[in-house]
Amino acid sequence: MAKERGRPRTSTVLWDGVQRLLAGADGAAGPRSVVDLGGGTGGLAVRVAALGHDVVVVDPSPDALAALERRTAESGLSGRVRSVQGDATELAGLLPAGSADVLLCHGVLEVVDDPSAALRAAHGVLRPGGRLSLLVTQWPATVLARVLAGQLPQALHALSDPGHRWSGSDPLRRRFDRAEAVELAEAAGFTVTEVEGTRTFSDLVPAACAESEAEAALLRELEARAARSPELLALAGHLHLHAVR
Ligand SMILES: C[S@@+](CC[C@H](N)C(=O)[O-])C[C@H]1O[C@@H](n2cnc3c(N)ncnc32)[C@H](O)[C@@H]1O
Repeated sequence: MAKERGRPRTSTVLWDGVQRLLAGADGAAGPRSVVDLGGGTGGLAVRVAALGHDVVVVDPSPDALAALERRTAESGLSGRVRSVQGDATELAGLLPAGSADVLLCHGVLEVVDDPSAALRAAHGVLRPGGRLSLLVTQWPATVLARVLAGQLPQALHALSDPGHRWSGSDPLRRRFDRAEAVELAEAAGFTVTEVEGTRTFSDLVPAACAESEAEAALLRELEARAARSPELLALAGHLHLHAVR
C-alpha cells in the first residue's frame, strides 16, 4: 500500500474517484487530455500521467512549477506533463477552447479572487461532454476540528464568518458546503453527477491511532463507507464533485 510522508495512506476515496472520473470521461479507452488547474507541485498530475494520460498543469506559482518539473523528471514522466504558468482567469488565453477531456480543480476555489470566474474558465477549456473533478474544502469540518482541538474562538469565527475562515490569518480565503459548491459548478454551466466526502475521519483521528497498516486499513474502510453517506457528507473535510460540461 502506498504511503504518504512515512505514514500509511488513510484514505483512497479521492484517488479512486479521480480514476473513475478519468475512465468515464470518454466512451473509448486511451489517454485523456487532462488540465490540472492550480496543480501546484504536481502530486496529482504525476499520478494521473503515470496512468498514461497527458497532463497540463496551470499554476501561477513559479516555485510550484519548478518543483513540479523536478518531480516529473524524477518520475520519468516529463514527456507526459507540461507546465504552464498562469492564472485561472487567463486559461482562455493559455489553452485552446474545448481542448481538454478532463479538468482537475483541487483546492483552488478556496484561494482564487473569483471562484465563479475560475469555474467559467474551466468550462471553456473542456470539450462538450468533458469532465470536471472539483475538490473543495468544507467549512463544517473545520468548525468541528477546531472544537475538538479546544480552539473555541476559531471555531466560532469559522462558523460565523461569511467565508468560514477561522481567523484573519487563515491561509484560505473561503470554505464551502455542498449546496454552495454544487450551485457554483452549475452556475458555470456544469451538470454535477456525483458528490463524495473525503477525509471525513482522517483529520480527526488521533495520529497515534492510525500508525500501523492495520489501523490505516480500518480508517480507509471507514472513509470509503462515509464517502457516500448522506448523513456524514456534511462532516467531510473535503467534497469531491464529479461534473460534466
Ligand atoms: C492548496 S494548493 C492545491 C494544489 C493542488 N491542486 C493540490 O490539490 O494539491 C492551491 C494551488 O492553487 C494555486 N493558485 C493560487 N491562485 C491561483 C489562481 N488564481 N489560478 C490558478 N491557481 C492558483 C496555488 O499556486 C497552489 O498551487
